[in-house]
Amino acid sequence: MRVSLEQAIAELKNGGVVAIPTETVYGLAADATNDNALKKIFAIKQRPADHPLIVHIGDMNQVSDWATTFPEVAIKLAEAFWPGPLTLVLPAQPHVSRVVRGDEPTVALRVPNHPVALALLKQGNLSVAAPSANLFTQLSPTTAAHVEAGLGESISVLDGGACHVGIESTIVSVSSNGQWQLLRPGMISEEDIAKVAAITNQAPSTVGADAKQALPKVPGQHALHYSPRTPLLLFKDRQSLIEESEALQAAGWSCAALLIGDGDEVNFQSISLPNAPEKVAELLYSSLHCLDAMKVDRLLVELPPALPSWLAVLDRLSRAGYR
Ligand code: TXA
Ligand code: MG
Repeated sequence: MRVSLEQAIAELKNGGVVAIPTETVYGLAADATNDNALKKIFAIKQRPADHPLIVHIGDMNQVSDWATTFPEVAIKLAEAFWPGPLTLVLPAQPHVSRVVRGDEPTVALRVPNHPVALALLKQGNLSVAAPSANLFTQLSPTTAAHVEAGLGESISVLDGGACHVGIESTIVSVSSNGQWQLLRPGMISEEDIAKVAAITNQAPSTVGADAKQALPKVPGQHALHYSPRTPLLLFKDRQSLIEESEALQAAGWSCAALLIGDGDEVNFQSISLPNAPEKVAELLYSSLHCLDAMKVDRLLVELPPALPSWLAVLDRLSRAGYR
């Protein structure tokens, strides 16, 4: 059910759950200070309770309401990238709901760069926890229609158009001594983060055996996540994709493909995306939603080159299918 901005604010203040647009993907939002409301998110998504949520705030001045420290490196990152597709994981204030934190000692914060999301947070004087508005392990939604297709028509959706970044935010944790660590790749690259962090002379924390053990849980990092319903196969180049499609079709299986960059055409349904990381990120989930809806036996996806600019797209694709 589509709702207006005013209705969305009223529902959230009333302890309801509303799907909201952000620049990355649609989020399933609830008042971040209301445990009963937060529990509804986990129930709707069928998401395990120990997976923490990102708190969306209207402006960086609100960080101190949630975090005990705002180290200089985190301030610089917030100044450089907020509002935008960056989530900062910081030591949490004791009052922050354990439901939001998934029992971690930290809280994840982000100022989204979407006019509708910002209007909701500011006009409503709200902070909302919002994981992607999809069932646990399924494809993230980048339109209001994707949300309804995944969660059903009865879910309240604030329609803000198609998301223009298209994949989830980059997550960086910053400890109280200012050491930082990339937890999830996104369209703000590790190199972008390192450049800004370098202004403060702060190097990333070394990922030794100890640091690894201390790594917080990142549910997006599950081996199979972001998956369409149709089994999805990944190919390093167009030629191997075409060869496999011929073998599959000869065996009577139907195929559809996601093609990236130039190459030979295929003789079955496909979506072609240009050799440009930003464009592919923007259209990645909507392309996979569309291919999934074709209800073929196998989806074949051509991987982009293993270059730093493609890292976030490669991360999401490698979790969606099998090589
Ligand atoms: O772009 C995005 O980040 C989207 C939009 C809606 O903002 N949200 C999103 O939420 O991707 P979700 O729940 O699908 O992913 C949240 C990620 C998870 O991988 C979770 O582990 C991590 O944030 N996270 C949240 N709180 C954390 C914490 N305290 N420590 C470590 N990781 C945390
Ligand atoms: Mg998600």
